[in-house]
Amino acid sequence: MSIPEAKQYILDFEQMGVGMFIHWGLYSQLGRGEWVSWNEQLDRDEYNKLANTFTAEDFDAEEIVLMAKKAGFKYITLTTRHHEGFSLYDTCGLNEFDALHAPAGRDLIREFVDACNKHGILPMFYHTTLDWYNKDFDDDFDQYLEYLRKSVEILCKNYGKIGGLWFDGNWSKPGADWKEDALYATIRKYQPEAMIINNTGLAERGRLGNIEIDSVTFEQGKPTPMDREGMPKYIAAEMCHTLNDHWGYGSQDLYYKSPVELIQSLCDCRKVGANYLLNIGPEAQGKVNDYQRELLGILGRWMNVFGEAIYNGRPCGVAGIGKNFALKSTDGKSLYLFVYDLAIRGDANVTVDGKYRGVYAYGGVNEAVESIKWMDNDEELSFVQGDNMLAVNFTGHPYGTSYPVRVAKAILK
Ligand code: GLC
Repeated sequence: MSIPEAKQYILDFEQMGVGMFIHWGLYSQLGRGEWVSWNEQLDRDEYNKLANTFTAEDFDAEEIVLMAKKAGFKYITLTTRHHEGFSLYDTCGLNEFDALHAPAGRDLIREFVDACNKHGILPMFYHTTLDWYNKDFDDDFDQYLEYLRKSVEILCKNYGKIGGLWFDGNWSKPGADWKEDALYATIRKYQPEAMIINNTGLAERGRLGNIEIDSVTFEQGKPTPMDREGMPKYIAAEMCHTLNDHWGYGSQDLYYKSPVELIQSLCDCRKVGANYLLNIGPEAQGKVNDYQRELLGILGRWMNVFGEAIYNGRPCGVAGIGKNFALKSTDGKSLYLFVYDLAIRGDANVTVDGKYRGVYAYGGVNEAVESIKWMDNDEELSFVQGDNMLAVNFTGHPYGTSYPVRVAKAILK
């Protein structure tokens, strides 16, 4: 048994490391999350009227793309259509429940793709498979699947090269024949190198699926290491998280994660080689609120200093103590040593307890190390090696700085 060789586009996906997820649709106008119509059993016809007030006047694709880029994100996965059935793209006559027929009157996916292409960000499309709008979903499933395929075909044909499709909703009819082969064949016909992802949901995180699937998902979870031994194909892994407790905008959802959680979750993902897909939920007409913006800004400041370790580091069998771990650079010439919750150097009267600085060991280091430096300030660290062990004296943060995770780079001989 061996590990299957990876296709280049899957390796490229892994290399990107961090993506931005965006949940935005008619539901954003109500500000109670994207499941609001289902959970509150709202009258469908009444709910659909939200299309009449959807102006998208605050949606500035370029500004969002630039914000993502500054935060270190390499791709963006946007909800082209969510379970409510409303499309942000031109459905080219499949129905009139789309942004073109709303007061917005624009193809928002076109704007999104153009902005991504302009700034070197890879556009990816979230697309629902569960549909609360199209009555065929319950009444004539085969007919519905044809509608779904035609929808996806539009997305694959009309927007140039895209990074991939991210499906969501097959978990809603677990026993049904979703005709996945036909759906994926439609994609491969136009976009042979698109990542195909189909969310397995909260109940089955990390489950493998159809052979065309290129990445497993860990929705709102913690990714586990992938055991690729004997797999028919090399597939990536991606974990998606909300910034607070809802994907779609929740005006009263104040349960925001802290920058510490975001940065540590990102590192936890990379520890096992998974990508981190972090969601924002724009408001009614597409505005991203200040707090979400600010959180991404802080993540970006961390990425600015340590991003190289996130993009280039891969799991290599080196183990750390506690949450600490190490990754090897893709060129094999260095190790990135990730240290969580490192103490600040300085006077005992002013620094906080509960954090540590000093010697930490890593096991499984079977190559000779030449030198080790903190990536943020190039300070040299002393170390000893022996018996596959590397013990490093991690000096604390200089007073005045504190990173939720600090990374040192070891150069191998
Ligand atoms: C879930 C939800 C959905 C959300 C998705 C993102 O499956 O149904 O609202 O889009 O997760 O992972």
